[in-house]
Amino acid sequence: MPPSNKFFRNRDFLSAQTGKIFVEQVSAKSLAEKFGTPLYVYSESRIRANARRVKTALAKFMPHSQLYYAVKANNNLSVLAILRSENLGADAAGPFEIELARKVGFAKDKILYSGVFHSDEELKFGLKAGVAINVDSLSAATRLLQFGKPPLFSMRVNPGISGGKIKKLVFAGKDAKFGESLANAVKAFQIAKKAGVKKFGLHMMTGSCVLDENYFSSATQKLLEFAGVIRQKVGIEFEFIDLGGGLGIPYRASEKILDLEQAIKKTAEVFTEGVKKFELGNPKLMLEPGRYLVGDAGILLTRVNTIKQAAKTFVGVDAGMQTLLRPMLYDAWHEILVDGKLEKKNPQTVSVVGPICENTDQLARDRLLPKIAEKDLLILLDAGAYGFGMASNYNTRARPAEILVNGKNAEIIREREGSAEIIGKQKIPTRLK
Ligand code: LLP
Repeated sequence: MPPSNKFFRNRDFLSAQTGKIFVEQVSAKSLAEKFGTPLYVYSESRIRANARRVKTALAKFMPHSQLYYAVKANNNLSVLAILRSENLGADAAGPFEIELARKVGFAKDKILYSGVFHSDEELKFGLKAGVAINVDSLSAATRLLQFGKPPLFSMRVNPGISGGKIKKLVFAGKDAKFGESLANAVKAFQIAKKAGVKKFGLHMMTGSCVLDENYFSSATQKLLEFAGVIRQKVGIEFEFIDLGGGLGIPYRASEKILDLEQAIKKTAEVFTEGVKKFELGNPKLMLEPGRYLVGDAGILLTRVNTIKQAAKTFVGVDAGMQTLLRPMLYDAWHEILVDGKLEKKNPQTVSVVGPICENTDQLARDRLLPKIAEKDLLILLDAGAYGFGMASNYNTRARPAEILVNGKNAEIIREREGSAEIIGKQKIPTRLK
């Protein structure tokens, strides 16, 4: 094990040479100098390895399965192209995600449109795109089937249980806006059957960032019970039963790494038994992770501009809530490394803060880090999922560039925004000119 692994754990695309951090074979320093900061950087080899790990486990324990990628986790076209080349399907949350998936060549029958609270326009867009549609309400089902017949009709249910490490992320249970009750799902499938739909799917998404390998099988058990009732009452068979995303990654050094093989093995066992018990025919087991595929494959580079000694020590950097919102929105933790100073030799407790005029704009509060100086380069780990995708233009800031590293190559895969994006779209009524 190389000595740097205590900092990087399973993130094997990262390494250090005399404290300097490398992404595959490219130094963080050279990336920051060439492309500027803040900067999202993704490792192609890590994205592929993550996808292959899931595919291998599925092939071992449940070959009758399909793996999709939840585009919302990272919608960069190059990331999508990588995962398409790994033969994944695409789970799209909205019309533009369908468009992105089509653009990089995902076949129509490998796209699932699973938005929530669909508008009529969105449902019509999905029908026109000719993709499978996964609705999350009886209302959307009814409206959809008035407008037309999708090649496959799927429904998201709320099986009542939820899991995951991040407290503010709730996807099922009484407080969740997602999915339908069993009774309403039965009604929706009845309408779909009457409308002449021939292919069906059943879907749940109950938790995100789950590290407990037992969770997925217990949620699956619930979903299969629902499938059994629907099968019996409506008399349909499912092409797939979609367990959603939720495979977790450890953001903190103290968190364990998800035992993916065990999670999939246990889930496959429960799935196989349930399919038999409830006479469900031969549905495929479907998974649509986002975070697990891209989360740990991305880092965020940010440059220190200011050290302020106040009641606390504030380390001011050029990334903030406009770049990476997760710490502010969920109190999420991202490990921070200081380039060239990996060992905590003269550790100091500091708060790492951004340039936005909000006091919640703190990437890390009271964090023990090596002694930081102005101009140091900081590296935030695990920023590949829900990083750029949740970035904004708040305080009229540009969203950062994105870079894909492949061995020695580093290519820009999204330009940093400029005034064209930020100012160019605005219009002033003549009377105000
Ligand atoms: N499928 C559906 C329908 C989803 O809504 C999601 C995520 C996924 C799959 C992928 O879930 P994953 O495998 O990534 O857990 N912004 C939050 C995460 C929100 C997840 C929303 N839905 C974060 O930064 O942690």
